[in-house]
Amino acid sequence: MSKGDLNLAVIGGDGTGPEVTAEAIKVLEVVSNLEGFSYKTTDLNYGSQYYLETGKIMPEDAIDRLKTFDAIFLGAVGHPDIQPGLIEKGLLLTLRFELDQYVNLRPVKLYPGVETPLAGKGPEDIDFVVVRENTEDLYCGIGGTMKKGTPDEVATQTAIFSRKGCERIIRWAFEYTRKRNNPKGKRLTLVAKKNVLTFGHDLWDRTFQEVAKEYPDVEADYNHVDACCMWMVKNPEYYDVIVTTNMFGDIITDLGAMIQGGMGVAAGGNINPDAGGVSMYEPMGGSAPKYTGQNVINPIAAIGAMGMLLEQSGYETAGKRVMQAIEKVTGTNMKSQAAGKMGYGTTEVGDLVVAAL
Ligand code: IPM
Ligand code: MN
Repeated sequence: MSKGDLNLAVIGGDGTGPEVTAEAIKVLEVVSNLEGFSYKTTDLNYGSQYYLETGKIMPEDAIDRLKTFDAIFLGAVGHPDIQPGLIEKGLLLTLRFELDQYVNLRPVKLYPGVETPLAGKGPEDIDFVVVRENTEDLYCGIGGTMKKGTPDEVATQTAIFSRKGCERIIRWAFEYTRKRNNPKGKRLTLVAKKNVLTFGHDLWDRTFQEVAKEYPDVEADYNHVDACCMWMVKNPEYYDVIVTTNMFGDIITDLGAMIQGGMGVAAGGNINPDAGGVSMYEPMGGSAPKYTGQNVINPIAAIGAMGMLLEQSGYETAGKRVMQAIEKVTGTNMKSQAAGKMGYGTTEVGDLVVAAL
């Protein structure tokens, strides 16, 4: 597809974020040569470092500046000297909302050679994708408290769901399922709790049923979220693509990360698929301060996030090549996906992926 200059903003972030980011860029360098496209990266020090120096998480013009890039690569945020949640909210959630990255794409794929805690399950059983809504629900920060700090304290936290918000993500998920074209059959499962959330999830359900009519080739399926947690452990091979709300998606994607071998391998994309939209890709593991600077953290998730970035940004063959190289390395070289137990250092795993390319 497009073969222009891929213009990337890189927020390496905190802890081990910059280390894994460096390996992802190393892989980008090689695959761009192989595939014959050029790229440019701009390092941005937004996040904890910027906060400790200036008291702000990002400069005033950050959003406008980020809008000028083709995509954003984010290493990790979270600093032991800063109260938990501050940078996550001020950076990650702010970017998701301000850049309207309404798709949170989270593949749950067990790479060859990677251990899963699910007994008797292998790579052919654990290969599905969660499409999480990324801009609504309990994440809006709507609510308040009364009589705070007293025994009579009351708090509200409101989930919002809009027709526009659920329709656009549901439609995107149907398109994605169609394109993914699972040889075992195309199935999109709506995961919600319509038996209890009889307003918000009823809106989701009705919208899902309506949009489904436009996709007769895709099986439109429904699971309650609690049952989905059960099936993800018992029968993960059932799933092809899941579409779900922001809060439920947050929870089930951590379960997904565990069954695919842990935070060292799980990657995600925060995508604004509209024309001119700027998307952000990230490994799911946090900043892991205790492993910082030791060359022991697993860069596979970050390299996978780069593969996703390429696939979603018009460099599909490059992205696929990266994913295949990852599978080769997990399948033939790495002893484990856990930090310090890989049998290689962080940079060596990056070199192995490069060699596999
Ligand atoms: C995720 C994370 C974030 C979320 C946190 C860091 C705010 O857990 O990307 O899943 O809850 O969405
Ligand atoms: Mn999460």
